[in-house]
Amino acid sequence: KPAVALVAAAGSGTRLGAPVVKALVEVAGRTLVARSVDALARGGVDEAVVVVPAGLERAFADALADAPVSVRLVTGGAERQESVERGLAAVPADAIVLVHDAARPFVPVDVVASVIDAVRGGAVAVTPVIALADSVRMMQDGASTVVDRSALRAVQTPQGFDAGVLRASHRAAVQARRVVTDDVSVCEAAGHPVTLVAGSRRSFKITDPFDLEIAEAIAGG
Ligand code: CTP
Ligand code: MG
Repeated sequence: KPAVALVAAAGSGTRLGAPVVKALVEVAGRTLVARSVDALARGGVDEAVVVVPAGLERAFADALADAPVSVRLVTGGAERQESVERGLAAVPADAIVLVHDAARPFVPVDVVASVIDAVRGGAVAVTPVIALADSVRMMQDGASTVVDRSALRAVQTPQGFDAGVLRASHRAAVQARRVVTDDVSVCEAAGHPVTLVAGSRRSFKITDPFDLEIAEAIAGG
C-alpha cells in the first residue's frame, strides 16, 4: 500500500497575521508547505495531496515545484474538516493516508515513520501525542479547578489511517453534522479505536507570530 500525505494547507492564518496565507510563509527562505512535504517524504511518504486555498493553486504549484515526491493540489473549503474531506476524495481508498497540518513543518522523521508503521501494523487511526508542560485549570461558571495533568495529552499530526476508513468516518460526521477539530476524533466518533504514538515538541504548530520566531531559530540554527 502506498503512504499518501494529505497536507491541510488551505487556512488563511488569521492568528499569524502575515501578508500571505500561512502555508506560503517562508522560514529561512523556504515555505511552511514545502518544508512539511519534505519532512513527510523523509519519513516515508510516497506521494502528497496538498489542499490549498481557492485561487492560490499557481502559487502553491510554484512553492512545491521541487518537492521530492509527486504532489497533487486540491482546492480546500472554509473549515479544516471540509478541506480534509476534499483532499480525501483525491486519495485512493486502498492507501494509507497521513493527514498533516502544513503549519507543522518540523515534524521529525521518526514521528512520521512511527505513524506509518503503526498503520501498516494494523492500527486504524493513529495520532502522535505529547505530555503537557504546564499545569492546567478548568474554567466553569466563573470558577476554576485543577485538572490532573498527568492524564492529559496534546494531539499533533500527522495522523495516520486506512484511507477507506477515514473517508467513511468523514461521511458519517457530515451526515451527523458533527464538528471535530482533528481526524482521529472523526474516526473515534464512528466507533474506531485510536492508537497513540510518541509525538515531539518539534512538531509544534505555527499559530502566532511568536511561533514564527521559534521557527526561524530552529531553521536558521
Ligand atoms: N486548514 C485548512 N483549511 C481550512 C482551515 C485550516 O486546510 N479551512 C489547515 C491550515 O492551513 C493549517 C491546519 O489546517 O495547516 C491547521 O489550522 P490552523 O493552524 O488553525 O491554521 P489557519 O486556520 O490557517 O489559522 P487561523 O486559525 O489562525 O486562521
Ligand atoms: Mg484555523
